[in-house]
Amino acid sequence: MNDGFAGYLMDTTPESYLDLFPLETIVYLTPDSENVLEDIDPSKVYVLGGLVDESIHKQLTLRRAREQGLRTARLPIREFMVRAPNCRNYHSETLAINQVFDILATYYETQSWPAALRAGVSSGKGYVLRDPAEQAETAQRATAAQGNALLCAEELQEAPA
Ligand SMILES: C[S@@+](CC[C@H](N)C(=O)[O-])C[C@H]1O[C@@H](n2cnc3c(N)ncnc32)[C@H](O)[C@@H]1O
Repeated sequence: MNDGFAGYLMDTTPESYLDLFPLETIVYLTPDSENVLEDIDPSKVYVLGGLVDESIHKQLTLRRAREQGLRTARLPIREFMVRAPNCRNYHSETLAINQVFDILATYYETQSWPAALRAGVSSGKGYVLRDPAEQAETAQRATAAQGNALLCAEELQEAPA
């Protein structure tokens, strides 16, 4: 079960982040940014879009951030991870808000992007770590995914037309 933010301590306010923080300190996190988040700067304010996409709406937060004249950044998923074969051929860098939060919190604690991404990117996103230490595990998962692909193909063959 995904209990989202149930265990988090949060302050909430009806005020806009634009009125609460100097614009130059705000970095809007969006999967569609051309900038990579390389490090977390404690003097910056990182904004996550409060969106739950039923289907992915590309560039929604990127457009919003640009309209507001804010800096943007995306998580370094493709820098530290590779696409894993899967039977749906599905690969998405758009994560749920709680996953992004967990990645930021883990990175802040460990200063390690592989550790952070391992903690937050669920296997359903179709990515695995590319770090050499992870390669054996990656190979294992790829073999399992290929097995699943075979199963998928068999299921498709058996499915009534
Ligand atoms: C479910 S996503 C919403 C995606 C939405 N289509 C958009 O345009 O942002 C929820 C939020 O998590 C953050 N997020 C998700 N994946 C991200 C990534 N790869 N890099 C940076 N932020 C991400 C963004 O702040 C995003 O608005």
